[in-house]
Amino acid sequence: MMAQPAPSSAPAPVPRHIAIIMDGNGRWAKQRSRPRTFGHSEGVEALRRTVEAAGELGVRYLTVFGFSTENWRRPIEEVNALFDLLRLYVARDLDRLVKEGVRVHVIGSREGLQPDLARIIADAEAKTRHNDKQHLVIAFNYGGQDEIARAARRIAEDVAAGKLAPGEVTIERFETYLDTAGLPPPDLLIRTSGELRLSNFMLWQAAYTELVFSDILWPDFDKAALQAAIDAYQRRERRFGGAEPERP
Ligand code: FPP
Repeated sequence: MMAQPAPSSAPAPVPRHIAIIMDGNGRWAKQRSRPRTFGHSEGVEALRRTVEAAGELGVRYLTVFGFSTENWRRPIEEVNALFDLLRLYVARDLDRLVKEGVRVHVIGSREGLQPDLARIIADAEAKTRHNDKQHLVIAFNYGGQDEIARAARRIAEDVAAGKLAPGEVTIERFETYLDTAGLPPPDLLIRTSGELRLSNFMLWQAAYTELVFSDILWPDFDKAALQAAIDAYQRRERRFGGAEPERP
């Protein structure tokens, strides 16, 4: 029988990468008899607080779900409002993110995005690309299935062009074709607003991610809520498919 690892008195580490499904903006606005778009703009304030809190708590990578490939089904006014909020967020926060050492990555399809938005995204990534203190990954026009299908398409193109042999398509090689190439997988995924679904978010990357669901509606999310999710994560044992418990 394998020996149990000695109980460790060292505190469990803070997750290196936290991914968040920022849900509940619409309900938060409805509770206040305000339009859904008001909930989204308050959601940006919660995003600002959370980026700052993640930095203070030592979370190096933060990924947030800003707009999903399925969100195109919402009324056009709401879709446009979400696009405008990304424009506004970059316009207002990019200089500070550059100064504070935050690298911005945007994952998702650029197809269907207005050209100015694609430019804004490219500019935010370029201006922060030498930063490494903290990473903010914004999933925008993102769907996990779409990301995997796009990766598979590019692999097929490379195989057809003779750049890659079918036998070279391993898990590690596949990952280099994903939007998240070079980023670590999330250790912890938080979904707010009491919904218990992944909703097509980081399907590949979340293979061994710990899931924490919070009843808080996203516009109310703050440092204490982030700390509470980290506390829950630190109480878990991670096994990665093995038998031996492994503390996070
Ligand atoms: C889910 O709430 C939230 C979204 C679809 C969008 C999240 C966007 C933001 C927080 C702001 C903009 C993002 C960036 C990156 C600047 P919901 O509308 O589904 O809420 P409901 O379930 O209560 O209706």
